[in-house]
Amino acid sequence: MSRLDPPRVNRRSFLTLASLGSFLAAMGTAAAGMLRLPNPAVLPGPVRRFKLGPPEQFSAGSETAFTDQNLVLFRDDEGFYAISSTCTHLGCTVARSKDGFACPCHGSRFNSKGGVVGGPAPRPLPWLEVSRAANGDLIVNADNEVPEGTRYSV
Ligand code: FES
Repeated sequence: MSRLDPPRVNRRSFLTLASLGSFLAAMGTAAAGMLRLPNPAVLPGPVRRFKLGPPEQFSAGSETAFTDQNLVLFRDDEGFYAISSTCTHLGCTVARSKDGFACPCHGSRFNSKGGVVGGPAPRPLPWLEVSRAANGDLIVNADNEVPEGTRYSV
């Protein structure tokens, strides 16, 4: 062996270097993953709380569709309640029908309380939380579902 020949790497040295290289690559990947942890992968969406106005503007027995907010506000003798008008099948906006709600997309039908009476919708239209703001206006929180039959009385 002359002085110009490259040094021979024996099997033990090669395996040691390969395992050390693999270990360092794994540690680098783990460190890169840990640096991403402080940044949330999912950001919260906008809060869906809607001010609908003073209760006095809704007469007993009324129903008011808020198309931009995808909900219908009802007032009966027991109080206010709101039902989402977003179809529980694939999210189309349902329309009021003679006896409830009907979805124009795939034909789901719901009764006047949002219960499914036909079509592919897997669950009833949600009832949404109704409350009042500090200034007295009614607020519907579309992110909070409440049990069917829940009323907000003023
Ligand atoms: S989105 Fe309403 S039935 Fe499909």
